[in-house]
Amino acid sequence: MKIMVIGGGGREHAVIKKLKCNPKAEVIYALPGNGGIAKDATCVPIGAKDIPAIVEFAKEKQIDFAVVTPDDPLVLGCVDALEAAGVTCFGPNKAAAIIEGSKVFSKNLMKKYGIPTAAYEVFDDLEKALEYLETAPIPTVLKADGLALGKGVIIATTREEAGAAIRSMMEDKIFGESGSKVVIEEFLEGPEVSVLAFTDGKCVVPMVSSMDHKRALDGDKGLNTGGMGTIAPNPFYTEEVAKECIERIFLPTVAAMNTEGRSFKGCLYFGLMITKDGPKVIEYNCRFGDPEAQVVLPLLESDLLEIMEATAKGTLGDLEVKFSEKAACCVVVASDGYPGKYETGFAITVEEGMTADVIYAGAKEKDGVIVTDGGRVLCVVATGEDLPEAVEKAYGNVPKVHFENAYYRKDIGQKALSVLQKRGGC
Ligand code: AMP
Ligand code: GLY
Repeated sequence: MKIMVIGGGGREHAVIKKLKCNPKAEVIYALPGNGGIAKDATCVPIGAKDIPAIVEFAKEKQIDFAVVTPDDPLVLGCVDALEAAGVTCFGPNKAAAIIEGSKVFSKNLMKKYGIPTAAYEVFDDLEKALEYLETAPIPTVLKADGLALGKGVIIATTREEAGAAIRSMMEDKIFGESGSKVVIEEFLEGPEVSVLAFTDGKCVVPMVSSMDHKRALDGDKGLNTGGMGTIAPNPFYTEEVAKECIERIFLPTVAAMNTEGRSFKGCLYFGLMITKDGPKVIEYNCRFGDPEAQVVLPLLESDLLEIMEATAKGTLGDLEVKFSEKAACCVVVASDGYPGKYETGFAITVEEGMTADVIYAGAKEKDGVIVTDGGRVLCVVATGEDLPEAVEKAYGNVPKVHFENAYYRKDIGQKALSVLQKRGGC
């Protein structure tokens, strides 16, 4: 079987490593992949947003199955274009990907179908937004409607900050056209949980829960990033919370999308906050999280390719999807300076005898050497019998990867470990 994976980050590397476990996967192409992915797949220099070139390549190579994982191509309709060319795909079509592509859409969906989320207002007029902010509860959360490289959210802790932020979005267009419409929403408090779920539009299979660490610096300080590390499972996602999420959020969301004529097939990501009033949706993504995929997929015991094929065919209900009871930890090793300015082009070396996996994100091959090529360079991923073991193993291996300018958070998993300790769970 000839498979094509669209994208070139850590998430795609994690997906490819798992797809490779099935002997049916004779050839895997990564478009564009990266220098580290090249160890596991054939990288093709076609950008993830270049849909005509992706379709052309699929036809030329007679691709049997395409896995589309990044937000941009999904929202742009990559799956629709490939399916029109006769290629079976894992991933939602454009009509369904809007659940991530437009925050206004997703907030209105939740309101219409009674799915718990933060209270909100939508504005496409700066003056009206400024007027609203004069009396809005502070802190307040401002979200650009469209995709903004995961950075379209500003939490303003003073009225002045809120005014400046709304101007930067709607007037200065710091997030481009994504900020033409803005959601202003209630500030929620509580631990965050990410749950990825396979769905074929009929049945929903939640994966093991995880926790991202979005801020750049230890102690959740510094700027928001794409994610500096993850752990799974997330101890805040108790059985009771899971039950509530399935009944009040996951099933109603999939049903709502069907009712809207936007049936979702693929991986639906629920970004949740466990508030004192119960779990609420912070965001939906139409794809695997990055770096959530890096901890969730290593715990998947069932075959990923079979699950993806069943999701595409609408036969997910016939499969048993199993996750291990173990735990996983992913530490992102980034270029110092990220998410601001940073230098790249430094050689990456990995010592022999690693007891953790190396997943490449921002890396490329240059003159036969793998060099840094992005903010988030690579992930060190370890599994263990429990979370303390996974965290210890991941951090035990981080010093075995080397490149100039390397930076990583030292506290991935600490919040989760302290909850477990308080509960006497480990
Ligand atoms: P997003 O880009 O939607 O993932 O949002 C980035 C981060 O902003 C989330 O992970 C939360 O930590 C925070 N956030 C988003 N919405 C809210 C909210 N309504 N209340 C509090 N924090 C929020
Ligand atoms: N880790 C958050 C995301 O993938 O959007």
